[in-house]
This record gives sequence, structure tokens and C-alpha cells, in this order.
Amino acid sequence: MSDVAARATAGFRQRYGAEPAGRWAAPGRVNLIGEHTDYNDGFVLPFALPLRTVVAAAVRDDGRWSVWSELDDEPVEFGPAEADEPGRVDGWAAYVAGVVWALRAAGHAVPGARLAIASDVPVGSGLSSSAAIEAAVLAALLDLGGLDLPAGRWPRLAQRAENDYVGAPTGIMDQSAVIRGRSGHALFLDCRTEAIEQIPFDLDAAGLAVLVIDSRAPHRHADGEYAARRKSCERAAKALGVAALRDVAAADLDAALARLDDSETRRRVRHVVTEDQRVLDTVELLRAGRVRDIGPLLTASHASMRDDFEITVPEIDTAVEAALAAGAYGARMTGGGFGGCVLALVDADAADAVAAAVAAAYADRGFTAPGTLTVRPAGGVARLD
Ligand code: GLA
Repeated sequence: MSDVAARATAGFRQRYGAEPAGRWAAPGRVNLIGEHTDYNDGFVLPFALPLRTVVAAAVRDDGRWSVWSELDDEPVEFGPAEADEPGRVDGWAAYVAGVVWALRAAGHAVPGARLAIASDVPVGSGLSSSAAIEAAVLAALLDLGGLDLPAGRWPRLAQRAENDYVGAPTGIMDQSAVIRGRSGHALFLDCRTEAIEQIPFDLDAAGLAVLVIDSRAPHRHADGEYAARRKSCERAAKALGVAALRDVAAADLDAALARLDDSETRRRVRHVVTEDQRVLDTVELLRAGRVRDIGPLLTASHASMRDDFEITVPEIDTAVEAALAAGAYGARMTGGGFGGCVLALVDADAADAVAAAVAAAYADRGFTAPGTLTVRPAGGVARLD
């Protein structure tokens, strides 16, 4: 953490020749289980990662915004006109302009600001580097402007930045995880009501570890495929006469499927309905302290994403199979799909061996070597100083 915070401060000093007024940090996330259920008004169980994005910032008196990040040499600058027109700022800076836009659209007097961003959350790995930027920038602008927005409303606002300014039709999971995550817990979120429950997820006490494997698979049309899955879920809900697929109970799944006439839609619906149930079952097991026993649910979630929702790719399936063959209790892709990361639940002292087994399977198939790290649930967005 201290390195990334120091990089943000150094970037601020170097670009703006001044001291920041403060620093704000937000994490990346993984999703333990509940994939593509958020925009179906369903259930998710993500947790925040120890990897952070840090924003160093100070007010700027002319009511404009400049943003520098490690990804670019020069700061991006924009004013109210660009901020008020979705799409005018693009690239990574769109996540920053999107937050300014969402705050202004909600009637807040957002102060102009200089911002410098450094991040340990890898970009493009499906660990929500964009939600981390949104959350850290949101926290910074609220504090700098002395604006009052209860924490419970932050995720929806950050999601609007992404949906309506950036133009990505994502659900509310990522922003909720990075804003409301708590150390040692997974966040059980009802995406319809936004009710949350912090579920203890103490890996150390159970002698377990979560291994995150970056598949390094090139993203293959991920945006278009994500939007297509979302559309097909919405069409199915309409055909079934429900507000969202969350309203189809697992016990009524067969009857619902019988009312749908194409097999692709039936598979999509089956994924969402069974996935919601797997989240509920996982929460029950964790509440009972049976951490190891969630393994089969993780693996079943993967099979459902692979066979029914059809969002996995060969690298991802290879990583899951190799982790399971090497003794993982369960393994699944995490995030939107078509690349990104796999998580595996393993005995803490077996993490290295499982990582090595995945690397060997990758080498056999001629894939680019995967990245691996072990993670614990960490806290959400916070001001550092
Ligand atoms: C991406 C989106 C989330 C969610 C997941 C799939 O991470 O940003 O809203 O839909 O995919 O579960």
C-alpha cells in the first residue's frame, strides 16, 4: 500500500508542482460467487482485494479537473462542458469524468480538482480496476468539496458513471464490493434492494487460501458479449412475465424453462437461476463456518458459466481443471468472462503447488504463462491521510 500511495504523491508533486491535500485508496475485487446475477436483480458475494488504487488530490480554483495516471505521461484536462456530456472524455480518464458527471447530475457542487492516480490493481484482468478508480475519485471529490453523500448511495452513483458516462452496461456488484467491502468478510449483496450482510470469510482460521490466477487470456469481444448476455436475460424475463430473472425461484426453474422456446435462452436462464441459488447456499455454509464445503459450489458455478452462459475461454477452463486436479476444493472464473481471472480455494500450504500445476498445464497448451497471487478479503475505499 505504501508504495502505491507514494507513487500517487510523487506523481502529484511532479505534474502539478504542489502538495496534495489528501490521498484516498480503493481496492480491486474478486467475486467469490454469483456471476451475471447482479443485473438480474439477484445475489452476489464478492470481496475487496488488498491491491489498491490511490488518488492524491487537491482543489483547483478555476472549476476544472486535471487527472494524471501512471498509464499516461500527460494529465488529461476537462471542464464542466466535457463532464456534462457523456462520452466526451474517453480512455481511463472517462471513469474520472464519469464520477464528476454523476455527482453533478445528482445536484452536487463538485469542486474543480487536480488528481494523480497510481494503482496496483492490474488493468484488464477482470479485478475491477475501473471501479477502484471510480470509488477513490468519488471519495476524494466528496471530501474536497465537503459534500455529504451517505456511503450506502455511493455504489449506485459510481455505477451510473460507468453505465451512463463510460457506456458500459454493468451491474452494481463491482462498485459495491470496492466501496462496502470489509476486511475478513465477503459482501453478501441483494442487488435488488441493495441490502448487504458482511459474511465472515476467515481463510487463515480455516487453514485455507484463495489463489487468484490471472488467465492472461486476451479479451475476446468481452464488451459486446457482456451486453448480449444482459439483453438475452432481459428478454427472457419479459417472456416469463417477471421483472427480472431473480424472480424465478430455483424450485420453479423447470416450469419456467418449459415456457421458453429456444435452447440458448433456456441455458442463459438456467445459469442465472441456479447461480442465485448457489450464492444463497454458499452464504449458508459460510454462516455455519463450513468454508471448505463451498468448494463444490464454486466448481458448479464454473461449469454453469462454461456450459450454460458460455462465457469462458480455453485458458480459463484449463486453469480451473488444473487447479482442481492439483487438489483445489473448488475453482471458478470470476468476473464478467471471456478472460480475466480464476479463483481457487486451496489449503494454504498447497497454494504454491496448485499455482505450479496451473503454470505447467498452461505450458503444455502453449498459453502465455498465467499470473498468480493469494489474497485475503480486505477493506473498502478509505481516506489515507
Ligand atoms: C462485470 C460487471 C459486473 C458483473 C460481472 C459479472 O464485472 O462489471 O457488474 O455483472 O461482470 O458477474
